[in-house]
Amino acid sequence: MKTKLWKVDPEAEDLVNDPQIREAAALLERGEIIAFPTETVYGLGGNAKIRDSVRKIYAAKGRPSDNPLIVHVATEEQVREICTEINPMAKKLIDAFWPGPMTLVLPSRGAVTDTVTAGLSTVAIRMPSHPVARALILASGLPIAAPSANSSGHPSPTTAGHVLHDLNGKIAGIIDGGETGVGVESTVVDCTTTPMTILRPGGISREQLAEVIGPVTDDPGLTRPDQTPKAPGMKYKHYAPEATMYLVPKGKDRIRELVVNQKNEHRRVGVLTTLENKDAFPDADVVLTCGRRSDPVTVAHDLFAVLRRFDAENVNVIYSETFSEAGIGKAIMNRLSKAAAGRVLE
Ligand code: TXA
Ligand code: MG
Repeated sequence: MKTKLWKVDPEAEDLVNDPQIREAAALLERGEIIAFPTETVYGLGGNAKIRDSVRKIYAAKGRPSDNPLIVHVATEEQVREICTEINPMAKKLIDAFWPGPMTLVLPSRGAVTDTVTAGLSTVAIRMPSHPVARALILASGLPIAAPSANSSGHPSPTTAGHVLHDLNGKIAGIIDGGETGVGVESTVVDCTTTPMTILRPGGISREQLAEVIGPVTDDPGLTRPDQTPKAPGMKYKHYAPEATMYLVPKGKDRIRELVVNQKNEHRRVGVLTTLENKDAFPDADVVLTCGRRSDPVTVAHDLFAVLRRFDAENVNVIYSETFSEAGIGKAIMNRLSKAAAGRVLE
């Protein structure tokens, strides 16, 4: 299949009537699958009501069939068509954070195909704020099922180039709307429990959620090896670069020692650091910076692109600095820890 590439300026006026968005929307209506930018990462969208369309998404990504997709909507009316009820706490979250980087797990009405929900009785719904994503949903009039537009296991894509790298020839098209903003995926909140549960930390922090609805719990499956995460996707290997990656909480002096040890064994060594420390590792073969430590939002923004760049650099081992888990730091550390398959070096 030839993958079409459309370039769209997210700041252009009247995107819903943009001929390229219209063309992409028409392909979606016919059951084709299209990648598009959201404020978090690029999504791979299909018509949430057509089983064959949703099957194409799983096939293109090589995604396990037990891992349900997020349904993307642009209006609250669409939300009500898909779930049976929006409880008062969920409504508070909607009013505070939609459109935006938050996904709500709600009881499903069965209006989307059960291939989207992987047979669960709940459905994950998100209203993205990216103007291109909104325009595509409105132009097609569809609820759009969309996981991140990477091959299963790879870091999520934050540019159209990343999508092309993973999915060229496997999908009908890519809308290139430039780099995404947040850089990590949405926060997934299970609204069917009391208190509500964070199934995946993301673009909206636990502190932000708590300000609106009070106490929220973290799914114990996220951190305890003896418990299965409630979001099926959180149990899989994810984001891993080709090299073996280690997190080094002690920071730059310890990393310098580790680098020298590896160099003595003639291995190609990479370091994942931040702008503040970019000159601190003269012995490493590749030093890549991921935003500024003083501003975690910039770290989240750069994270997946940096993980992908290490693959191009052919390093054998990567040592990474770690970050505070406050605010968006929780999502950063969750993704880093998955990329390192849980390996931590004291
Ligand atoms: O920011 C995002 O959320 C991006 C953009 C494209 O919107 N999408 C995204 O989708 O990250 P995906 O498929 O890569 O991750 C969806 C996560 C998975 O961990 C999945 O298991 C979980 O949400 N999920 C989906 N439906 C669920 C449900 N009904 N119950 C529990 N977890 C669910
Ligand atoms: Mg994903």
